[in-house]
Amino acid sequence: MAGNNNNIIMFPFMAQGHIIPFLSLSLQLEQKGYQITFINTPLNIANLRRVLPPTSTVRLLEVPFNSSDHGLPPNSENTDSLPPYQICDLLVASTSLKPAFRNILSGLVDAGTPPLCVVADFFFGWSAAVTHEFGIFHVIFSGSGGFGLACYFSSWINLAHKHSDSGEFTLPDFPEAGKLQVTQLTPSLVAATGDDPWSKFQKQNLPAWGNSDGFLFNTVEDLDKVGLSYFRRKFSRPVWAIGPIDLSVSGGARTGKNGRIETNSCLQFLNSMPPASVLYISFGSQNTITASQMMQLAKALDKSKKHFIWVVRPPLGFDINTEFRAEEWLPENFKKQTEEEHRGLIVEKWAPQVEILSHQSVGAFMSHCGWNSVLESLSRGVPLLGWPMAAEQFYNAKMMVEIAEVCVEVARGTSFEVRSEDLRETIEEVMSEDGKGREMRKKASEIKKMIEEATRNEQGFRGSSVEAMEDFLQAALMKNTTITTTNDLQQD
Ligand SMILES: *[C@@H]1O[C@H](CO)[C@@H](O)[C@H](O)[C@H]1NC(C)=O
Repeated sequence: MAGNNNNIIMFPFMAQGHIIPFLSLSLQLEQKGYQITFINTPLNIANLRRVLPPTSTVRLLEVPFNSSDHGLPPNSENTDSLPPYQICDLLVASTSLKPAFRNILSGLVDAGTPPLCVVADFFFGWSAAVTHEFGIFHVIFSGSGGFGLACYFSSWINLAHKHSDSGEFTLPDFPEAGKLQVTQLTPSLVAATGDDPWSKFQKQNLPAWGNSDGFLFNTVEDLDKVGLSYFRRKFSRPVWAIGPIDLSVSGGARTGKNGRIETNSCLQFLNSMPPASVLYISFGSQNTITASQMMQLAKALDKSKKHFIWVVRPPLGFDINTEFRAEEWLPENFKKQTEEEHRGLIVEKWAPQVEILSHQSVGAFMSHCGWNSVLESLSRGVPLLGWPMAAEQFYNAKMMVEIAEVCVEVARGTSFEVRSEDLRETIEEVMSEDGKGREMRKKASEIKKMIEEATRNEQGFRGSSVEAMEDFLQAALMKNTTITTTNDLQQD
């Protein structure tokens, strides 16, 4: 059997936040000469067909899935199209992909073309054992950072908050994370009893990570040491920090409809502004704040007179895809006035985030602290105002505040009562030329250098992320060689 096969199987959970980092990693590995097979359900594959660069050789492969068979609405194959209370149903339904996944591997092995390795989602803990049935190397790839995922893992495994009356608790197997508050947990965790559907899913899924041969993280070793050390300790497996993965390569999956018009107007606005003077505000494509929070934020911007670009979405309770009604959801004349005074730009739904963060006029980023946004901000040396809302964003914000020291948390979630006066104060503090603002910008530019260093690949020097990627591929190859040798011996 050929030991020089270079096919890598990619298998993300059905959510944009998972599919995009997996696709980006696929394109990066394709560049290195690997043949990628990307597995997902029919509708997700159809969407990917539209965004995959035409020159790409990534092979898209469907596994059968019909959401109606799992008590989900018709054609719901992605968390994008589901309300929060049905996300767990999709997770549970995804375990039904097991036989189809096994068939794919068995087909490849029977054809004499076993893949070099399987790179699977952290929601597909079960895939490790299936992959090992065929003696194939298996790793879990996390698009989330190490610290965030460590807190998430530990919170679910231990449910430590259940034993706290004060609303404050520590993670028994991750004390380095410090104190956490119940307000930093998602509703599903707060409500977890150990016997509810979420807990049941996690009790199956999380321990199964131990069956994997290692972990890939879209993060940087020196930035995320604390979180990565949790997994090294927990599983005694290699943990490779290979980030930041360049997400712009799967640009098509992230761009707005009028991408070019928005890009031009944002860049024109930024070009006319002094260095580090503009606050960029975006809460990611999946989140929004309440109408009253939106009002307070607008008032804070008004009072501070700071320049801003604000990506707005309809407030909580409205369909996130409807037209934005500025006259109803923002203070009277707010949009008109700020635009006339050339003070701020309100952009609907989508903005060219990387271009904006790369611009020298941007001084800070008010963000939900989704990991992709955090990495994009840090890669450009831009400090953060954190407003975490869901998933592991609360832990990311915590890490940015306490470990990286490049963030001030301004609010937490959508039931948090924000006051325009507090927001104004924090905005001014972070954007000030001296004091805390200056300190944070200095830290952020140090981290920017750290990230550049990690991804540097020159004659005689390989950054930590480049090195980790090579190590991972080497480990997959070694395992492969071992299997081939064993088979050869058996055949003898
Ligand atoms: C999914 O199942 C439903 C109900 O059995 C059926 O009506 C529908 O045609 C199926 N969809 C696909 C794409 O097969």
